[in-house]
Amino acid sequence: MLTKAPKGTKDILPGQSSKWQYVEGLFRDICRTYGFEEIRTPMFEHTELFVRGVGDTTDVVEKQMYSFDDLAGRNITLKPEGTSPAVRAFIENGLYAQAQPTKLYYITACFRYEKMQKGRYRQFHQMGVEIFGSESPMADAEVISLAKDMLEKSGMKELELRLNSVGCPECRPRHREALKDFLRDRYEQLCETCKGRYEKNPMRILDCKNENCRRLVENAPLMLDYLCDDCRAHFEKVKELLGEMGITFVIDPWIVRGLDYYTKTAFEFVSTREMAQGTVCGGGRYDHLVEQLGGPGVPGVGFGMGEERLLLLLEEEKAAFPVTEGVDYLLVTMGERARKMAVKIAGRLRKNGRSAVCDMMDRSFKNQMKYANKIGAAKVIILGEDEVEKGICSIKDMKTGEQVTISADHVDNL
Ligand code: HAM
Repeated sequence: MLTKAPKGTKDILPGQSSKWQYVEGLFRDICRTYGFEEIRTPMFEHTELFVRGVGDTTDVVEKQMYSFDDLAGRNITLKPEGTSPAVRAFIENGLYAQAQPTKLYYITACFRYEKMQKGRYRQFHQMGVEIFGSESPMADAEVISLAKDMLEKSGMKELELRLNSVGCPECRPRHREALKDFLRDRYEQLCETCKGRYEKNPMRILDCKNENCRRLVENAPLMLDYLCDDCRAHFEKVKELLGEMGITFVIDPWIVRGLDYYTKTAFEFVSTREMAQGTVCGGGRYDHLVEQLGGPGVPGVGFGMGEERLLLLLEEEKAAFPVTEGVDYLLVTMGERARKMAVKIAGRLRKNGRSAVCDMMDRSFKNQMKYANKIGAAKVIILGEDEVEKGICSIKDMKTGEQVTISADHVDNL
């Protein structure tokens, strides 16, 4: 127990962590080129935020939240997603009073008590963006374009964008009624979860993974056929803009999304590889969430990208990660005086931005040279009695075997 991490969590070890740094660095860079700025929100929020934001009939709120009472009796939840906290911060800090739109990005851990499987964890990480304040289809297209740039630049090739519109509170009730009519005769055959959804949130039945439910809804009425004029015009414009940007997509009228706040555009990026693990990036528009959470009537659109899933896919596609280099210098020493000289030289090298490592295991000379290979040191600086006596350094290139001697005073020029 003591030496086992909780189910659904993973350590990111050296060797892996450089890949994480790489994709996160890429994401930050791409967000900057689109004019987004970073927001960092707390790891936990008042439970009520997610109940109201994500929706009380969603799987996330009903079954997956890590909620607990703190010592003062407040009900707290570890964030299961990044959008609701970003909205809360947008309202609380009056960001709506600045020139709009507000364009935010985040990289954050999220927590959902889910059934563990490949690509699905209980602590996972999202890279996400949100644009607040713009109703324009341009905002939808920009967000989609940013996600696509990120996925492609990180090395993903087998990629598909799926697009849908989930309507708005004006047109959704008509679809809801049509769907309920369609399902009325089939109700008894639905799974227990979907029976519960029938009254509360019938659209979620379209998203059920149960084989039987899937078959039952095969010919169900689809939201796309019930869009009001405003939602339809918006959807057309988004498609037109994506066309202008050269972004290909497929219309997928079955995209429902697992969170309740979406209106109009809903999209997902999926891998076209067989056996690929679900959606790597999901997002859409949420024009009423800010108001629903107590803010002004400000629209929003964004996405969340699963880092674990992205890295899994990149590894499966054998994408090239920049090689992490070993250290520039290992200081190989013999004797106490050499060790003292080594710490000073290492300090001077580091001041100049070079990486330098000293042996701290009292290894023999031979084993220090072996260690240099193990840690991928490009060069070793040999400091023996002779070098200390003369104030010089013998530098050996580990690749070519070439050895030069310089005065210790010239270390700053290395
Ligand atoms: P979501 O679809 O729930 O949307 O999650 C976004 C992404 O997070 C998923 O596509 C997936 O890659 C990853 N993900 C979700 N759950 C897990 C898990 N248990 N393990 C590993 N990865 C997971 C949202 O969270 C919305 N906040 C996205 C958004 C932002 N919509 C608008 N703005």
